[in-house]
Amino acid sequence: MMERIQVGLGDRAYEIVIGPGARALAADLTGRRNFLVTDSRVAELWGSWAAKEIPQAGSFVFPAGERHKTPETVVSICRRAAELRFDRKARFVALGGGVVGDMTGFAAAIYMRGAGFVQIPTTLLAMVDSSVGGKTGVDIPEGKNLIGAFHQPEQVLIDPDFLATLPPGELRCGLAEILKTGVIFDEALFAELERDPDSLTVAPDYARFVPLIRRSCELKAQVVVADEREAGIRALLNYGHTFGHAVELLSDFSIGHGEGVAVGMCCAGELAARLGLWTRKEAERQKRAIAALGLPVALPRHCTVPAMLEAMRRDKKNRDGAIALVLPRRIGAAEVNRDVADAEIGAALEAVHA
Ligand SMILES: NC(=O)c1ccc[n+]([C@@H]2O[C@H](COP(=O)([O-])OP(=O)(O)OC[C@H]3O[C@@H](n4cnc5c(N)ncnc54)[C@H](O)[C@@H]3O)[C@@H](O)[C@H]2O)c1
Ligand SMILES: [Zn+2]
Repeated sequence: MMERIQVGLGDRAYEIVIGPGARALAADLTGRRNFLVTDSRVAELWGSWAAKEIPQAGSFVFPAGERHKTPETVVSICRRAAELRFDRKARFVALGGGVVGDMTGFAAAIYMRGAGFVQIPTTLLAMVDSSVGGKTGVDIPEGKNLIGAFHQPEQVLIDPDFLATLPPGELRCGLAEILKTGVIFDEALFAELERDPDSLTVAPDYARFVPLIRRSCELKAQVVVADEREAGIRALLNYGHTFGHAVELLSDFSIGHGEGVAVGMCCAGELAARLGLWTRKEAERQKRAIAALGLPVALPRHCTVPAMLEAMRRDKKNRDGAIALVLPRRIGAAEVNRDVADAEIGAALEAVHA
């Protein structure tokens, strides 16, 4: 059965369709010329399916990996679109993980000042997080996602069948984002991840993923509708990310986004316990759940306190030099905090070091 979630954004409202077989709906993307964008790995695994089933007037494949999420790749995407004579009525179709989705969405946002786009996420992370909400963009050496735009997709087709080819490490990265959503909004979602974690990781029971994806998308859609441009509540979705982005950056992206977020949640959890915002018991419960999913709970040694603080200060959510942090109040609630002293952050980081 297909589940449908409406993202009620007025004239930019769109639908998220979730369920086994949802990708077959790509065949209905008719009436306009489609420009398929994907990466080399997804093309290898799903390219022949896409060639047959997604109506398309042209395509672009770039090398897989976060290090290719650059302005240069976006320019290549746009140049290919121009070469193929797509106009602004074109529909860009992003088939892939968060890297494909973020870059295709950004290319669509700026190509001829705005073309439409559709998301067909193929990683768990993209299914539960990046494909919904309209944040698009690229990295530059100075920081992650520093160049970007808000540009909502026209539709999101989420098919858990894509997960069958996803390596376990990537599955875990998606689980980290679901866990994050649980900590900030929904204890029941968090508890569902604590239950039999092996059936989500080492021996995945894919049927378990559909309700997890649905709940994550539902919560994310609510937040996006309430605060599309992140003036308030949407900022909570960055839980674990300020620390996590710093870890990713300092590890030259050898650590996956979800792994960075997992360690980042441990840092935030430790800090919140030290500040008395939540109990030590809750911090430990979060840490146990992260570890049980096979995600990292310790900060790598090379992420020294000064390097972390320096990387975190560059985060674009900061204002006037103060580091903006999302800190948990309990499993199911969090808040933004802008006045934690560097010394407090440093002490928490020391405690989370490997
Ligand atoms: N826009 C947002 O709101 C938002 C939210 C969260 C994360 N992000 C971004 O998403 C990115 C991370 O996304 P990701 O983890 O999906 O990374 P990714 O797109 O790099 O995918 C990870 C790897 O899995 C491969 N892959 C994709 N689908 C596959 C499949 N079905 N089977 C086998 N391999 C497959 C990819 O080729 C890649 O090598 C980061 O750049 C992050 O900043 C954006
Ligand atoms: Zn994320």
